[in-house]
Amino acid sequence: MPYPSSENHRMVITGGTPLYGECAVGTSKNAVLPILAAALLTKEPVTIFDVPNISDVKNMVSMLKAFGSAVRICGSATTITSKTMRTTSPAESITGRFRASFLFIGPLLAREGSATMPLPGGCSIGSRPVDIHLNGFRALGCKCITTAAQVHVWGRPRGARIHLEFPSVGATENILMAAVLAKGITTITGAATEPEVIDLACFLNSMGAKITIGGNGSITISGVEELSGTSYTPIPDRIEAGTLMLAAAVSGGEVRLRRVNPQHLTPVCGKLSEAGAEIFPYEDGLSVKARRLLPMEIVSSPFPGFPTDMQAPITAACCGAKGTSTVCETVFENRFLHVAELAKMGADITVQGNLALIRGTGNLHGADVRATDLRAGAALCIAALIARGETVINDIHHIDRGYDRLENKLSSLGAKIRRI
Ligand code: UD1
Repeated sequence: MPYPSSENHRMVITGGTPLYGECAVGTSKNAVLPILAAALLTKEPVTIFDVPNISDVKNMVSMLKAFGSAVRICGSATTITSKTMRTTSPAESITGRFRASFLFIGPLLAREGSATMPLPGGCSIGSRPVDIHLNGFRALGCKCITTAAQVHVWGRPRGARIHLEFPSVGATENILMAAVLAKGITTITGAATEPEVIDLACFLNSMGAKITIGGNGSITISGVEELSGTSYTPIPDRIEAGTLMLAAAVSGGEVRLRRVNPQHLTPVCGKLSEAGAEIFPYEDGLSVKARRLLPMEIVSSPFPGFPTDMQAPITAACCGAKGTSTVCETVFENRFLHVAELAKMGADITVQGNLALIRGTGNLHGADVRATDLRAGAALCIAALIARGETVINDIHHIDRGYDRLENKLSSLGAKIRRI
């Protein structure tokens, strides 16, 4: 069961214990969210297996129901049946809370030729505009009007050539979903090719779509008349896997992670190996063993670069490294909010523009800190595992947005962690 409301929950972590053991990684949040939205593209039942128990999914399911879908959860299977749909978002209070709600526009346009949604607005890590999404819809022949509060998009998408100025993950997914039922062929160049985008394409193809992924960020979609129901298991969560790898490494332990696709983690494994961690294949995942890490040079960038979602957790890991690390954030404009919280734990970090210089003292101490966003929260967990004494992390509802009971996974590996 999801936590009814984790608004007032806190995480208490006592650092200094090496992590040992084995743990299975959950299903990818960023793969499941667009797949849930894409379930609207057919009237037939769509079953998705191993949907993670996180609050972003809970919000997405509430929105599906509000649009008119029936959602049934039975064991590990979530079945969505969308016979008749509303096209205007009926749940502003939910959509305001999370940006993934914007992903309903693509499927609603494809199916009903119209969608009205509140503008998602910025969040703590940046202003997060939606211009690339809207330009994509316009290129497909649709009309868009935005007011201060909402966006209305209408028209039947037609095949087109679309070049994205930046490989936006959400815009690529929205355009893919809008174009699957379009007349003609759509090609997207400059598209995002994150594993979660590819997984969405595989899911859509399992419904009967005709999507081909080319090299160099090109995607071709041959429109089909209709899509059918399907059963699908999305990919494991590479960010959760990376977070657990870092937890194992900074604690100086040895952990085996099952249900990991190492190819999705190439840049993370590469940086951790350079920093002295030993990473080996293990069953359907990998094992990580490390002593104190060496300093790292990290530059976040779109796939196949180092994932921006791992930037905050690895910045925390650098605080325990033997020397000075640099971390450069190139995807979001304001993704260093965790730095002020890490400083409360004794971290020595200087931020200049999009570059952080982290002097690894290995000398963090427990403190009362606050998760400012999802990955910043994960970063504080990593730092708390290194720190002497007890750390209390407030506002962990941010962590619950994307990690399915992170404290249970860490405590199964021996971490001294509890939720209060
Ligand atoms: C997705 C992920 C998020 C991840 C991000 C980058 C989901 C649910 N979320 O977010 O975890 O951190 O990819 O890998 O999958 N941008 C524009 N105009 C647009 C769209 C984006 O300027 O129309 C900018 C954003 O402000 C940001 C950058 O492009 O600076 C990347 O954003 P994007 O790839 O779209 O991220 P999301 O899809 O929102």
